[in-house]
Amino acid sequence: MSKSSDIGLIGLAVMGQNLALNIADHGYKISVYNRTYSKTENFLSSNTANNNLIGFESLRSFVDSLQPPKKIIIMVQAGKATDAVIDTLVPFLKNGDIIIDGGNAKWTDTISREKSLKEKNILFVGSGVSGGEEGARFGPSLMPGGSKEAWNHISSIWNAISAKVDENTGKPLEGASPGKPIEGGVSCSAYIGENGAGHYVKMVHNGIEYGDMQMICEAYHLMASVLKLEPYEIGQIFEEWNKGQLDSFLVEITADILKQKDPRTNLPFVDVVMDAAGQKGTGKWTSVNALDMGVPAPTVAEAVFARCLSAIKKERTQASDILTGPAISKSIQNKDEIIQAIHDALYCSKICSYAQGFQLMREAQKEYDWSLNFGEIAQIWRGGCIIRAAFLQKITEAFTKNSNLSNLLIDGHFKECINKYQHNWRKVISIAIQSGIPVPTFSSALSYYDGYRNNRLPQNLLQAQRDYFGAHTYERIDEDRGKFFHLDWLDPDRPEITI
Ligand code: 6PG
Repeated sequence: MSKSSDIGLIGLAVMGQNLALNIADHGYKISVYNRTYSKTENFLSSNTANNNLIGFESLRSFVDSLQPPKKIIIMVQAGKATDAVIDTLVPFLKNGDIIIDGGNAKWTDTISREKSLKEKNILFVGSGVSGGEEGARFGPSLMPGGSKEAWNHISSIWNAISAKVDENTGKPLEGASPGKPIEGGVSCSAYIGENGAGHYVKMVHNGIEYGDMQMICEAYHLMASVLKLEPYEIGQIFEEWNKGQLDSFLVEITADILKQKDPRTNLPFVDVVMDAAGQKGTGKWTSVNALDMGVPAPTVAEAVFARCLSAIKKERTQASDILTGPAISKSIQNKDEIIQAIHDALYCSKICSYAQGFQLMREAQKEYDWSLNFGEIAQIWRGGCIIRAAFLQKITEAFTKNSNLSNLLIDGHFKECINKYQHNWRKVISIAIQSGIPVPTFSSALSYYDGYRNNRLPQNLLQAQRDYFGAHTYERIDEDRGKFFHLDWLDPDRPEITI
């Protein structure tokens, strides 16, 4: 077998197939392998016109077909399946060969895999791949991390196959079709950093995705329950919003979904879908990591909890017969004003959620000794990925102006937006509370904002409580930070002790 392929791919589930076709469309010869050969056969027979695809039944001949250094993408389920593939692959590889994990791996697993493969002189890249099936096929957002040497070998392929955005506006370039990829534009792919950095950033992307989705759901819930709008009408509103500041993939698909009829009953499609959310864990990882590092990222966590609460459907159904709440007012006078207020609440909450995501990455880079380029991360999220949005151009600009920006909320543009819209944001949350509509992400984002901008929070009292019952000590406002004191609460005179 001549070593003719530029790259190989293992795992022909939907994402793997689409990524292979995308790579082939860009003129790279790609060998493919799947544990069950029939899947490879079916894939090849559905793509007979594509001369750049070569399938293999045996792993050895698959590996043999690759030009050195051999570059192999793994597109299998994150976790044990990835380890199993790596273990079977390694005996066939030589020094300097490259494994790329394109699954949604946990960044800590990527760190361990990179380390153990390095000891075997095999280079490892953990690459975030976002954009679902369509993205994988015509241009995903790619977040590679790991071996820099390996990155140098794969960067031309990664840059070629990723989504592209317009150089000046940052808007995604669309219109790719089979065999006709997008030409020109700026690639939504950039080397993120050492070991698990790429998968970490992909995880935060997903955490933000959870937040965005939940916020959109809250806006929909308010319009449906308070304003009594039909799904189709709400879809039209989202369609309008998609032409402005909220222009984004998730708002666009929401408009489409809300206008969809159920093919079985002809009812609005969303009305027949069970209100119990699933999740694969990336939002949870983001929230657990925020808690581990002590970074306030409440909005993503609330989005995860909202999915958990929705999932206990049976319990909620029982509770709905027992528990009461306020009645929703029947007549709404100022519908248009409320719709605008919901729009503004969504935008302000989104700013806070992204601010939290970037704070998380800022802290993680210290923890893991990465050097993340936040402007570049915002840039590669402008196209291809699930959270792609016009809004990311503004974040790119904010970090381009100031790469050391401590929090997005401080940036001039975002500060102005919140100043302008916060009245409506607060109004919507008040309406929701008075109407008994849960808005966990809208309200947690607002609490984050109010907490972050407040020079004095009530944790002075909390510190005093801790000192009272557990001698946990406190700092004083009239002393330097880091100097700790304890009040001897058991002594009637309550003298202060310097620690
Ligand atoms: C992406 C998506 C993708 C996947 C989510 C779904 O960037 O393309 O994030 O990775 O759709 O992981 O996650 P849940 O099943 O947890 O909603």
